[in-house]
Amino acid sequence: MPPFRIWFAAALVGIGGAFLSSAHSQPLRKGAPRLEPVAETKLLMEGLADPNAKALAKMLAAKPKDAEAWAFARGQALLLAETGNLLLMRPPKTRTSEDAWMGHAGDLREHATTLARAAGAKDYIQARAALANLANACNRCHQSFRVGVRYDPFGDER
Ligand code: HEC
Repeated sequence: MPPFRIWFAAALVGIGGAFLSSAHSQPLRKGAPRLEPVAETKLLMEGLADPNAKALAKMLAAKPKDAEAWAFARGQALLLAETGNLLLMRPPKTRTSEDAWMGHAGDLREHATTLARAAGAKDYIQARAALANLANACNRCHQSFRVGVRYDPFGDER
């Protein structure tokens, strides 16, 4: 193949790849707005991850007393799950860090969703287990990206 043809084939693969990556999971209508990150990651941490995680730790320090408390905990867990979605939109640029980032953000969404389900079922044992897994997702991402913040829902500092 002459060099021009090779280049052209590579360009087509590139276009195909871009199409596939933008089309996965949610096909958007033509001309519809695309998902794009707006806030800094730091702001999501301060405004969503941190307050909801701390509140959940408090909420689940002992078994919630009534349906209202469980409903509150469920809502906080769902906001953390959505924070996972927002983090999935803003991975770092390099390939290896992107893979690590997506894994941790996906774990956050998964464990927060499990926690929300446990809170919906008022299952204290399951909720505590999910909170421990959720904390691991926060801490593993921070370790990978050298963020000196540790979330310890069962520790003393709340
Ligand atoms: C996918 C990766 C990732 C996950 C998951 C994650 N974080 Fe973070 N977090 C970061 C990064 C990156 C920073 C540093 C942001 C900066 O300073 O620009 C950060 C910073 C923070 C900070 C410090 C914010 C500040 O004021 O500097 C807190 C608090 C925090 N995260 C809490 C949490 C909690 C709680 C969870 C879990 C519920 C969590 N994070 C999950 C990546 C993550």
